[in-house]
Amino acid sequence: MKIMIINGPNLNLLGSREPDTYGSQTFNSYFQSLKEKFPKVELAYFQSNIEGEIIDRLHAADKEFDGIVLNAAAYTHTSVGIGDAVKAISTPVVEVHISNTSAREEFRHKSFIAPNAKGVILGFGLQSYELAVLSFTEA
Ligand code: DQA
Repeated sequence: MKIMIINGPNLNLLGSREPDTYGSQTFNSYFQSLKEKFPKVELAYFQSNIEGEIIDRLHAADKEFDGIVLNAAAYTHTSVGIGDAVKAISTPVVEVHISNTSAREEFRHKSFIAPNAKGVILGFGLQSYELAVLSFTEA
């Protein structure tokens, strides 16, 4: 099984960015532990701060991967383009968030991804990604 994890803007700063909200672990270090937890799963990782690059990567991942785990970060709440890309491809996408966006500011309650996603996992810290991978492997 092949799973692609795509992270959006500012998530390259995990570890140092707002640690009270996002924790103090870097994504690279978390990604290593995730690969160890799922030795039979081919896990790929892509991060970009650029909306169009995220759309391009969703297109490229379509049919190449069995599942996509997407944390579009702030673009979740603004990007019709990323929402449309998730709708356009046939590989299922699970939307994840580290924080519980429903418990935060009103503008974070809106998601352009969710209506087109297989499901949404939010608020479990970095463990949200593991739960999303499990949703594919245990399906
Ligand atoms: C986030 C939540 C978003 O509202 C925020 O803009 C992020 C991270 C999360 O994982 O909790 O950058 O997607």
